[in-house]
Amino acid sequence: MSPLRVGLAGLGVVGGGVVRALAERERLQGRAGRAVVLTAVTARDRNKARDLDLGNARWESDPVALAKAPDIDVFVELIGGSDGVAKDAVEAALAAKKPVVTANKALLAKHGAHLARLAESNGVQLAYEAAVAGGIPIVKGLREGLAANGVRELHGILNGTCNYILTAMRESGRDFADILAEAQALGYAEADPSFDIDGIDTAHKLAVLTAAAFGTEVGFDHVHVEGIRHIAAIDIEYAQELGFRIKLLGIARLTDHGIEQRVHPCMVPITAPIAAAEGVFNAVVVDGDFVDKVLFVGRGAGAGPTASAVVADLVDVARGRVTPTFGVPAEQLKKLTPASIARR
Ligand code: NDP
Ligand code: HSE
Repeated sequence: MSPLRVGLAGLGVVGGGVVRALAERERLQGRAGRAVVLTAVTARDRNKARDLDLGNARWESDPVALAKAPDIDVFVELIGGSDGVAKDAVEAALAAKKPVVTANKALLAKHGAHLARLAESNGVQLAYEAAVAGGIPIVKGLREGLAANGVRELHGILNGTCNYILTAMRESGRDFADILAEAQALGYAEADPSFDIDGIDTAHKLAVLTAAAFGTEVGFDHVHVEGIRHIAAIDIEYAQELGFRIKLLGIARLTDHGIEQRVHPCMVPITAPIAAAEGVFNAVVVDGDFVDKVLFVGRGAGAGPTASAVVADLVDVARGRVTPTFGVPAEQLKKLTPASIARR
């Protein structure tokens, strides 16, 4: 069978991880049923020093040109941003009937329904396992593993940077800003880290998960958002004394009045399973009508876990799998009826 030729846009934290994961050629060939070959790459600065073996991949200076290049079969978008070049390139790839793999939750939270329609009308996959909860297969879990269920609620820790900060503040009493700088150095934070600490990144992911879980259009504008900027060491200490951990949670719940979506710091009992997710770990609980509660836990950010999810999507693409983006065809996505946010 002919190899799957990959065009990769973005050679940063996640892109670099993907280049390394694609080097496991034999393993991938077995799982994908054909070779998966890095054929062409792009990034902002061609001359930047990168400790990456790009093999024979050709350099393309324009992500949009790469997205529709005749020598690639799938376009991987790891640039970031809800608009601009990432969106232009993803649209160009889908319009050219090339499947897209992306880790870009900001893009999906803003344009998810439109991109799903574009992908499905062109008969190609828009895959985004890496966009939510890093290495945890939560999108495939919801869309495939839990397909029999009507989801009643999902909640969890969806941002590795915030969980890393809250954990380190509790364990070491160190300063918020120092720990954030450490999370940035580890490659966990967004290009603009206020997206992490102000809860916006969690809200992006929650909006995407809500669509996949409840079969609705993506409704980022209806998420109530509050971050962790105002949490002080003393809050964490008092919570601990009372038997709680402070966690930034994303919560989506089906109510009699519609779907409630909110992001805010919560007091979680130390005995609750998600309280054990510390550092960069994420944890998500899904409550389905047949399965009851299922817990997903794993590393929520960083090069390796995120590349793991990107490459899993590439294996699906290599196998020819085409699944509706949010579990049901885009044309059948329900309008999101937002419940008013309950007071806490
Ligand atoms: P980085 O900032 O590390 O990498 C971004 C890459 O995009 C760089 O290689 C950069 O080029 C390239 N780039 C930026 N602008 C352009 C442009 N105009 N044209 C071409 N290339 C461009 O980001 P990450 O790897 O951390 O994140 C990438 C995506 O993955 C984002 O959507 C992010 O939200 C998402 N994500 C990140 C995770 C993480 O743990 N870091 C986890 C899950 C998702 P250059 O290198 O030359 O500067
Ligand atoms: N900045 C994000 C986080 C990256 O810390 O969770 C993973 O999506």
